[in-house]
Amino acid sequence: MSELKKRLSFILESPKHNTEEKLQKVCALLDQEISHFNWTGFYFKNGDKNELKLGPYVGAETDHTIIPYGKGICGQVAVSNETFIVPDVHLQDNYLSCSIDTKAEIVVPIFKNGENVGQIDIDSHTIDPFTKEDLELLEWLCNEVSKIL
Ligand code: SME
Repeated sequence: MSELKKRLSFILESPKHNTEEKLQKVCALLDQEISHFNWTGFYFKNGDKNELKLGPYVGAETDHTIIPYGKGICGQVAVSNETFIVPDVHLQDNYLSCSIDTKAEIVVPIFKNGENVGQIDIDSHTIDPFTKEDLELLEWLCNEVSKIL
């Protein structure tokens, strides 16, 4: 297991912090360790509503604290149940801009008991920055996060 995965596991397993604090620390660690991650946050299904609600995040404040299913990259992932990698956000029609600096985005869904309950969303200030290793790490992380929900 990579050093970063070990550190992420350590945070998620910590008995000292609640879920929100753990997710906040996960965002901070990813933001600190991966230089092309420039906004890192979680969205979760808002109760029974077909919308996402912003959870813990690190990065610029965003207007998109609530995102209806189907809207933007996040809302599309809430419906498709599939990871969405956007190498260049300017080429997307159905996109919600958070910052003019954002060039690329990756959104990975989180499943609990087979249900799509949320996602991790990463924005980058670099075009086409996300690697196979990033994807593998984020899918692993979402699986680990699911266990503490
Ligand atoms: N860009 C996202 C909205 C969330 S912000 O990036 C934080 C989208 O299109 O869904």
